[in-house]
Amino acid sequence: MNKDFWKKLNKPIIGLAPMDGYTDSAYRRICKLVNPDIIVYTEFTSADGLHHKAKKLKQKLKFFNDEKPVIAQIFGKNPDTYITAARLCEDMGFSGIDLNMGCPAKKIVKSEHGIALRKKPDLAFKLIESVAKNTKLPVSVKTRLGLNNADSLHHFALGAQNAGANMICIHARTYKEPYKVPASWEPLYELKNHLTIPLIGNGGVQDIEDGLKKMNNLNGFLIGQASIGNPWVFNQTGTSPDLKEKIKIIKMHARWLVEAKGEYTGTREIRKYLISYFKGLQRAKDYRKKFISVESLKDIESILDKLALNYKL
Ligand SMILES: Cc1cc2nc3c(=O)[nH]c(=O)nc-3n(C[C@H](O)[C@H](O)[C@H](O)COP(=O)(O)O)c2cc1C
Repeated sequence: MNKDFWKKLNKPIIGLAPMDGYTDSAYRRICKLVNPDIIVYTEFTSADGLHHKAKKLKQKLKFFNDEKPVIAQIFGKNPDTYITAARLCEDMGFSGIDLNMGCPAKKIVKSEHGIALRKKPDLAFKLIESVAKNTKLPVSVKTRLGLNNADSLHHFALGAQNAGANMICIHARTYKEPYKVPASWEPLYELKNHLTIPLIGNGGVQDIEDGLKKMNNLNGFLIGQASIGNPWVFNQTGTSPDLKEKIKIIKMHARWLVEAKGEYTGTREIRKYLISYFKGLQRAKDYRKKFISVESLKDIESILDKLALNYKL
Protein backbone atom coordinates (compact mmCIF):
# COMPACT_ATOMS: atom_id res chain seq x y z
CA MET A 1 0.00 0.00 0.00
CA ASN A 2 1.21 3.41 -0.93
CA LYS A 3 2.11 6.09 1.61
CA ASP A 4 0.59 8.52 -0.91
CA PHE A 5 -2.81 6.89 -0.51
CA TRP A 6 -4.43 9.97 1.08
CA LYS A 7 -2.87 12.39 -1.41
CA LYS A 8 -4.03 10.28 -4.34
CA LEU A 9 -7.62 9.73 -3.21
CA ASN A 10 -10.18 11.66 -5.25
CA LYS A 11 -11.13 14.88 -3.49
CA PRO A 12 -13.14 15.76 -1.59
CA ILE A 13 -12.52 12.77 0.62
CA ILE A 14 -15.82 11.76 2.19
CA GLY A 15 -15.91 9.21 4.96
CA LEU A 16 -17.86 7.49 7.68
CA ALA A 17 -16.33 8.55 11.02
CA PRO A 18 -15.19 5.68 13.24
CA MET A 19 -17.76 5.07 15.99
CA ASP A 20 -17.25 2.43 18.63
CA GLY A 21 -20.38 0.30 18.97
CA TYR A 22 -21.65 1.34 15.53
CA THR A 23 -19.23 1.22 12.61
CA ASP A 24 -18.78 -2.52 12.44
CA SER A 25 -18.52 -4.39 9.16
CA ALA A 26 -22.30 -4.71 8.60
CA TYR A 27 -22.92 -1.00 9.12
CA ARG A 28 -19.95 0.01 6.99
CA ARG A 29 -21.31 -2.17 4.18
CA ILE A 30 -24.68 -0.45 4.41
CA CYS A 31 -23.02 2.99 4.13
CA LYS A 32 -20.93 1.77 1.18
CA LEU A 33 -24.10 0.49 -0.46
CA VAL A 34 -25.46 4.04 -0.32
CA ASN A 35 -22.22 5.56 -1.58
CA PRO A 36 -19.44 3.22 -2.80
CA ASP A 37 -16.94 6.11 -2.96
CA ILE A 38 -16.74 6.85 0.75
CA ILE A 39 -13.88 5.70 2.93
CA VAL A 40 -14.68 3.80 6.09
CA TYR A 41 -12.85 3.19 9.36
CA THR A 42 -13.15 0.31 11.81
CA GLU A 43 -14.22 0.96 15.39
CA PHE A 44 -11.18 1.80 17.48
CA THR A 45 -9.26 -1.29 18.51
CA SER A 46 -6.54 -1.73 21.11
CA ALA A 47 -2.94 -2.09 19.95
CA ASP A 48 -2.10 -3.84 23.23
CA GLY A 49 -5.01 -6.21 22.70
CA LEU A 50 -3.88 -7.04 19.18
CA HIS A 51 -0.35 -7.59 20.44
CA HIS A 52 -1.37 -9.96 23.23
CA LYS A 53 -4.47 -11.80 22.05
CA ALA A 54 -4.66 -11.06 18.39
CA LYS A 55 -7.18 -13.79 17.54
CA LYS A 56 -10.28 -12.29 19.19
CA LEU A 57 -9.65 -8.74 18.04
CA LYS A 58 -8.58 -9.89 14.60
CA GLN A 59 -12.06 -11.33 14.25
CA LYS A 60 -13.48 -7.90 15.23
CA LEU A 61 -11.38 -6.22 12.52
CA LYS A 62 -12.58 -8.49 9.68
CA PHE A 63 -13.98 -6.72 6.65
CA PHE A 64 -15.43 -7.54 3.24
CA ASN A 65 -14.12 -6.53 -0.16
CA ASP A 66 -17.16 -4.32 -0.77
CA GLU A 67 -16.02 -2.09 2.12
CA LYS A 68 -12.65 -1.19 0.62
CA PRO A 69 -10.79 1.06 1.18
CA VAL A 70 -10.98 0.36 4.91
CA ILE A 71 -8.83 2.14 7.48
CA ALA A 72 -8.03 0.28 10.71
CA GLN A 73 -8.29 2.59 13.68
CA ILE A 74 -6.04 1.61 16.53
CA PHE A 75 -5.45 3.12 19.96
CA GLY A 76 -2.39 2.60 22.10
CA LYS A 77 0.53 4.26 23.86
CA ASN A 78 3.26 1.70 23.40
CA PRO A 79 5.36 1.84 20.20
CA ASP A 80 6.06 -1.91 20.24
CA THR A 81 2.44 -3.02 20.48
CA TYR A 82 1.49 -0.39 17.90
CA ILE A 83 4.03 -1.88 15.49
CA THR A 84 2.64 -5.41 16.00
CA ALA A 85 -0.86 -4.04 15.40
CA ALA A 86 0.22 -2.14 12.29
CA ARG A 87 1.84 -5.21 10.75
CA LEU A 88 -1.25 -7.26 11.48
CA CYS A 89 -3.42 -4.63 9.80
CA GLU A 90 -1.07 -4.68 6.84
CA ASP A 91 -1.41 -8.48 6.56
CA MET A 92 -5.19 -8.23 6.80
CA GLY A 93 -5.31 -5.99 3.75
CA PHE A 94 -6.30 -2.68 5.29
CA SER A 95 -5.66 0.41 3.18
CA GLY A 96 -4.33 2.46 6.07
CA ILE A 97 -3.83 2.64 9.80
CA ASP A 98 -5.28 5.48 11.84
CA LEU A 99 -3.97 6.35 15.29
CA ASN A 100 -6.69 7.39 17.70
CA MET A 101 -5.58 10.46 19.64
CA GLY A 102 -9.00 11.94 20.29
CA CYS A 103 -11.17 9.58 22.30
CA PRO A 104 -12.46 11.35 25.44
CA ALA A 105 -14.01 8.27 27.14
CA LYS A 106 -13.12 8.11 30.85
CA LYS A 107 -11.57 4.64 30.71
CA ILE A 108 -9.44 5.58 27.72
CA VAL A 109 -8.24 8.90 29.18
CA LYS A 110 -7.51 7.33 32.57
CA SER A 111 -5.22 4.80 30.92
CA GLU A 112 -3.51 7.70 29.06
CA HIS A 113 -4.79 6.74 25.62
CA GLY A 114 -6.86 8.71 23.11
CA ILE A 115 -7.06 12.45 23.80
CA ALA A 116 -4.75 12.01 26.83
CA LEU A 117 -1.89 11.77 24.32
CA ARG A 118 -2.38 15.48 23.62
CA LYS A 119 -0.91 16.03 27.08
CA LYS A 120 2.19 14.11 25.96
CA PRO A 121 2.84 15.30 22.40
CA ASP A 122 6.37 13.87 22.34
CA LEU A 123 5.06 10.39 23.06
CA ALA A 124 2.36 10.92 20.42
CA PHE A 125 5.00 11.87 17.83
CA LYS A 126 7.14 8.88 18.81
CA LEU A 127 4.17 6.56 18.29
CA ILE A 128 3.44 8.05 14.87
CA GLU A 129 7.09 7.78 13.86
CA SER A 130 7.37 4.15 15.02
CA VAL A 131 4.27 3.09 13.12
CA ALA A 132 5.21 5.12 10.03
CA LYS A 133 8.69 3.60 9.88
CA ASN A 134 7.60 0.04 10.52
CA THR A 135 4.69 -0.42 8.16
CA LYS A 136 4.05 0.08 4.47
CA LEU A 137 0.57 1.36 5.32
CA PRO A 138 -0.17 5.07 5.15
CA VAL A 139 -0.51 6.42 8.68
CA SER A 140 -3.15 8.91 9.72
CA VAL A 141 -4.04 10.52 13.02
CA LYS A 142 -7.48 11.44 14.29
CA THR A 143 -7.61 13.94 17.10
CA ARG A 144 -9.59 16.93 18.41
CA LEU A 145 -8.95 20.66 18.50
CA GLY A 146 -7.27 20.22 21.86
CA LEU A 147 -7.98 19.67 25.53
CA ASN A 148 -9.74 22.94 26.43
CA ASN A 149 -9.16 25.03 23.29
CA ALA A 150 -7.30 24.89 19.97
CA ASP A 151 -4.10 26.58 21.22
CA SER A 152 -1.91 23.48 20.80
CA LEU A 153 -3.40 22.37 17.47
CA HIS A 154 -0.69 23.82 15.21
CA HIS A 155 2.16 22.42 17.24
CA PHE A 156 0.49 19.02 17.40
CA ALA A 157 -0.48 18.78 13.73
CA LEU A 158 2.92 19.95 12.45
CA GLY A 159 4.65 17.57 14.86
CA ALA A 160 2.46 14.71 13.60
CA GLN A 161 3.29 15.59 10.00
CA ASN A 162 7.03 15.73 10.78
CA ALA A 163 6.79 12.38 12.55
CA GLY A 164 5.50 10.77 9.36
CA ALA A 165 1.71 11.12 9.41
CA ASN A 166 0.25 11.00 5.89
CA MET A 167 -3.11 12.55 6.81
CA ILE A 168 -4.68 14.24 9.80
CA CYS A 169 -8.35 14.33 10.65
CA ILE A 170 -9.52 16.83 13.23
CA HIS A 171 -12.79 16.48 15.10
CA ALA A 172 -13.57 20.17 15.50
CA ARG A 173 -14.49 19.98 19.16
CA THR A 174 -12.32 19.90 22.29
CA TYR A 175 -11.99 17.21 24.94
CA LYS A 176 -14.28 19.32 27.13
CA GLU A 177 -17.00 19.47 24.46
CA PRO A 178 -17.46 15.79 23.66
CA TYR A 179 -20.20 15.41 21.04
CA LYS A 180 -23.25 17.63 20.94
CA VAL A 181 -21.94 21.21 21.14
CA PRO A 182 -21.57 23.00 17.78
CA ALA A 183 -18.22 22.17 16.18
CA SER A 184 -15.71 25.01 15.50
CA TRP A 185 -14.07 24.50 12.12
CA GLU A 186 -12.26 27.87 11.84
CA PRO A 187 -8.99 26.67 13.44
CA LEU A 188 -8.88 23.89 10.81
CA TYR A 189 -9.05 26.30 7.87
CA GLU A 190 -6.09 28.21 9.28
CA LEU A 191 -4.15 25.06 10.07
CA LYS A 192 -4.58 23.78 6.50
CA ASN A 193 -2.37 26.63 5.22
CA HIS A 194 0.58 25.22 7.18
CA LEU A 195 0.31 21.52 6.28
CA THR A 196 1.53 19.65 3.22
CA ILE A 197 -0.43 16.48 3.99
CA PRO A 198 -4.22 16.23 3.53
CA LEU A 199 -6.39 17.57 6.35
CA ILE A 200 -9.91 16.28 6.89
CA GLY A 201 -12.52 17.94 9.09
CA ASN A 202 -15.20 16.30 11.16
CA GLY A 203 -17.87 17.36 13.61
CA GLY A 204 -21.54 18.18 13.19
CA VAL A 205 -21.78 17.41 9.47
CA GLN A 206 -25.41 16.56 8.62
CA ASP A 207 -25.05 15.35 5.02
CA ILE A 208 -22.84 15.70 1.94
CA GLU A 209 -24.13 19.16 1.04
CA ASP A 210 -23.42 20.39 4.57
CA GLY A 211 -19.97 18.75 4.55
CA LEU A 212 -19.05 20.41 1.26
CA LYS A 213 -19.96 23.79 2.77
CA LYS A 214 -18.11 23.16 6.02
CA MET A 215 -14.91 21.73 4.48
CA ASN A 216 -13.92 25.04 2.88
CA ASN A 217 -10.18 24.73 2.00
CA LEU A 218 -9.82 21.27 3.62
CA ASN A 219 -9.44 18.01 1.70
CA GLY A 220 -12.60 16.34 2.92
CA PHE A 221 -14.89 15.53 5.81
CA LEU A 222 -16.26 12.64 7.86
CA ILE A 223 -19.85 12.15 8.98
CA GLY A 224 -20.54 10.35 12.25
CA GLN A 225 -23.68 10.70 14.36
CA ALA A 226 -25.90 12.05 11.57
CA SER A 227 -25.48 8.75 9.72
CA ILE A 228 -26.83 6.60 12.53
CA GLY A 229 -30.33 5.60 11.43
CA ASN A 230 -29.77 7.56 8.26
CA PRO A 231 -26.92 6.15 6.15
CA TRP A 232 -28.59 7.99 3.24
CA VAL A 233 -26.72 11.12 4.39
CA PHE A 234 -24.01 9.69 2.15
CA ASN A 235 -26.23 9.79 -0.90
CA GLN A 236 -24.55 12.03 -3.51
CA THR A 237 -27.94 13.17 -4.80
CA GLY A 238 -29.00 14.44 -1.37
CA THR A 239 -32.13 12.27 -1.47
CA SER A 240 -33.40 9.36 0.61
CA PRO A 241 -35.31 6.37 -0.72
CA ASP A 242 -38.95 5.86 0.27
CA LEU A 243 -39.81 3.80 3.34
CA LYS A 244 -40.36 0.63 1.28
CA GLU A 245 -36.84 0.76 -0.15
CA LYS A 246 -35.41 1.71 3.25
CA ILE A 247 -37.01 -1.38 4.79
CA LYS A 248 -35.29 -3.57 2.20
CA ILE A 249 -31.93 -2.07 3.18
CA ILE A 250 -32.66 -2.30 6.91
CA LYS A 251 -33.45 -6.02 6.46
CA MET A 252 -30.13 -6.38 4.67
CA HIS A 253 -28.37 -4.63 7.56
CA ALA A 254 -29.94 -7.03 10.05
CA ARG A 255 -29.00 -10.04 7.92
CA TRP A 256 -25.38 -8.92 7.51
CA LEU A 257 -25.07 -8.21 11.22
CA VAL A 258 -26.45 -11.64 12.15
CA GLU A 259 -24.22 -13.34 9.57
CA ALA A 260 -21.17 -11.57 11.01
CA LYS A 261 -21.88 -11.93 14.73
CA GLY A 262 -24.38 -14.77 15.06
CA GLU A 263 -28.10 -14.54 15.81
CA TYR A 264 -27.81 -13.87 19.56
CA THR A 265 -25.37 -10.95 19.37
CA GLY A 266 -26.55 -9.69 15.99
CA THR A 267 -30.18 -9.34 17.07
CA ARG A 268 -29.18 -7.56 20.28
CA GLU A 269 -26.92 -5.17 18.41
CA ILE A 270 -29.43 -4.36 15.64
CA ARG A 271 -31.94 -3.05 18.22
CA LYS A 272 -30.35 0.38 18.62
CA TYR A 273 -30.10 0.80 14.85
CA LEU A 274 -33.77 -0.17 14.38
CA ILE A 275 -34.81 2.50 16.88
CA SER A 276 -32.67 5.05 15.02
CA TYR A 277 -33.93 4.04 11.55
CA PHE A 278 -37.52 4.78 12.55
CA LYS A 279 -36.90 7.79 14.81
CA GLY A 280 -39.45 10.46 14.04
CA LEU A 281 -41.76 8.13 12.11
CA GLN A 282 -45.31 8.94 13.11
CA ARG A 283 -47.32 6.19 14.85
CA ALA A 284 -44.13 4.14 15.32
CA LYS A 285 -44.29 3.96 19.14
CA ASP A 286 -45.56 0.36 19.26
CA TYR A 287 -42.81 -0.73 16.89
CA ARG A 288 -40.14 0.79 19.11
CA LYS A 289 -41.21 -1.53 21.92
CA LYS A 290 -40.93 -4.48 19.54
CA PHE A 291 -37.54 -3.38 18.22
CA ILE A 292 -35.94 -3.37 21.66
CA SER A 293 -36.85 -7.00 22.24
CA VAL A 294 -36.12 -8.68 18.89
CA GLU A 295 -34.42 -12.06 19.32
CA SER A 296 -34.22 -13.54 15.84
CA LEU A 297 -33.79 -12.49 12.25
CA LYS A 298 -37.26 -13.91 11.53
CA ASP A 299 -38.69 -11.63 14.26
CA ILE A 300 -37.08 -8.62 12.66
CA GLU A 301 -38.28 -9.46 9.18
CA SER A 302 -41.85 -10.10 10.29
CA ILE A 303 -41.99 -6.86 12.35
CA LEU A 304 -40.68 -4.91 9.37
CA ASP A 305 -43.20 -6.62 7.05
CA LYS A 306 -46.03 -5.69 9.43
CA LEU A 307 -44.75 -2.13 9.60
CA ALA A 308 -44.74 -1.97 5.80
CA LEU A 309 -48.33 -3.27 5.70
CA ASN A 310 -49.47 -0.78 8.32
CA TYR A 311 -47.96 2.08 6.42
CA LYS A 312 -49.53 0.70 3.21
CA LEU A 313 -46.20 0.43 1.41
C1 LIG B 1 -20.91 6.49 19.80
C2 LIG B 1 -19.63 7.11 19.29
C3 LIG B 1 -18.49 6.33 19.21
C4 LIG B 1 -17.30 6.90 18.73
N1 LIG B 1 -16.20 6.11 18.61
C5 LIG B 1 -15.06 6.62 18.05
C6 LIG B 1 -13.94 5.80 17.77
O1 LIG B 1 -13.94 4.57 18.00
N2 LIG B 1 -12.84 6.40 17.24
C7 LIG B 1 -12.80 7.75 16.94
O2 LIG B 1 -11.79 8.25 16.45
N3 LIG B 1 -13.86 8.53 17.17
C8 LIG B 1 -14.98 8.00 17.70
N4 LIG B 1 -16.08 8.80 17.85
C9 LIG B 1 -16.03 10.18 17.37
C10 LIG B 1 -16.49 10.25 15.90
O3 LIG B 1 -15.59 9.61 15.04
C11 LIG B 1 -16.62 11.71 15.44
O4 LIG B 1 -15.35 12.31 15.55
C12 LIG B 1 -17.60 12.50 16.28
O5 LIG B 1 -18.80 11.78 16.49
C13 LIG B 1 -17.90 13.85 15.63
O6 LIG B 1 -18.50 13.69 14.38
P1 LIG B 1 -20.09 13.89 14.20
O7 LIG B 1 -20.44 15.19 14.85
O8 LIG B 1 -20.32 13.81 12.74
O9 LIG B 1 -20.72 12.74 14.95
C14 LIG B 1 -17.27 8.26 18.34
C15 LIG B 1 -18.42 9.03 18.42
C16 LIG B 1 -19.60 8.47 18.87
C17 LIG B 1 -20.85 9.32 18.94
